[in-house]
Amino acid sequence: MHYIRFLKAPRLIDNSMRNAPSSISAKITITTDLGESFLRANVTLDVLLVAEDESLVLVDPKELVWRGEDGMRALEVAFQIPARLKKSHEGPVRVIVKARPMKTALGRSIRSFTSVLSQQESEGGIVEVGSMAIVLNPVPSKTVQPSLARRQLWNGRGEAIEIWEETGESIARHVWDAGLVFSAYLSRVADNLSLSKPQPKTLPVLEDVLLKGSRLKVIELGAGCGIVGITLASSLSNIDQILLTDLPEASEILETNIAASRARKPANPSPSADVSHHVLDWSSPLRQPVSITKWDLVLVADCTYNPDVVPDLVSTLGKLRAANREVLVALAMKVRHESEMVFFELMEREGWAVREKCRFRLPVLGGEEEGIEVWVFGEGGLVSYRA
Ligand SMILES: C[S@@+](CC[C@H](N)C(=O)[O-])C[C@H]1O[C@@H](n2cnc3c(N)ncnc32)[C@H](O)[C@@H]1O
Repeated sequence: MHYIRFLKAPRLIDNSMRNAPSSISAKITITTDLGESFLRANVTLDVLLVAEDESLVLVDPKELVWRGEDGMRALEVAFQIPARLKKSHEGPVRVIVKARPMKTALGRSIRSFTSVLSQQESEGGIVEVGSMAIVLNPVPSKTVQPSLARRQLWNGRGEAIEIWEETGESIARHVWDAGLVFSAYLSRVADNLSLSKPQPKTLPVLEDVLLKGSRLKVIELGAGCGIVGITLASSLSNIDQILLTDLPEASEILETNIAASRARKPANPSPSADVSHHVLDWSSPLRQPVSITKWDLVLVADCTYNPDVVPDLVSTLGKLRAANREVLVALAMKVRHESEMVFFELMEREGWAVREKCRFRLPVLGGEEEGIEVWVFGEGGLVSYRA
């Protein structure tokens, strides 16, 4: 999957003092989740200047061409702000960059969980990006705002979740393929509930736990921006608590995303889950109340890529099991290299059994196909495997 990213977040060049037109400028790129490879296909992009709530497109959309086949790595975006708009539009504005809807056989512009999963039938997707709110008539201020970008994903029930990610060099605090695909799968489990003819279960052991009546206690390890836990909390009504955990560096973005999810609370689920965050470093002892809580489910997405920290991750999973032998671990991963297999060896050594697993195809536009695997660990042997 590819992601449109702001290399330079959109900002206002305010020329009103010079009696010249003001503009908004930004620089974008399109890369994979690790940011290590650029989109090698040619794609038409639509750049939109919209009201903050997106109820209105404020100027004619700009059409840009990403020339990936020629090795393009960055693209400048600039909008002139008509003087009448600056005078008449009171609220902040937002810039949205998306790939022009492409033929189904080709790539897919991604703005919904359904399109994440239906990529299986395309040649790869490009996730759209939104900017922070930009004030057209700013009052001078010394406060430095963090530079964030928004991923907005619609579920099949007509609601969106909003995840903010960092735009700089950080590779930890942005949305990753495994987290996005896992979230799309969890959202589909909830969509399925409202269908008259539900789809067959992909991971029956996990889905039976998710859909059982009792109020579940869920903890996420290495939550990053929190997309997986926040999606689950916004999808099902029987979640009692979701604790998103990561290193201290992730606390600010987790706080931002939890606040955004509270502000956009969907009509369902009800009653809603208690979502919070907590610093949990796998290399440190578990602290109370995490260590004594009977967790029903542990979520982990894209945390097994660094074999150096995997022993600490497996040891943390063992400590979480101490309070509840029946806890399930649902882990999503993109297999990037052989060394990641150490995770499975250590899990087996610690007495975890694979209950089930599945694989979602992830076509990559202009590149080789990848896949996201979801593994469910617990007590007992392998129950099912679906490709
Ligand atoms: C690739 S990111 C995945 C983030 C998120 N799960 C997702 O899918 O979008 C890996 C996450 O593991 C966290 N992490 C790495 N080492 C850790 C440790 N020792 N203790 C806790 N979290 C750690 C990082 O801070 C990062 O947020």
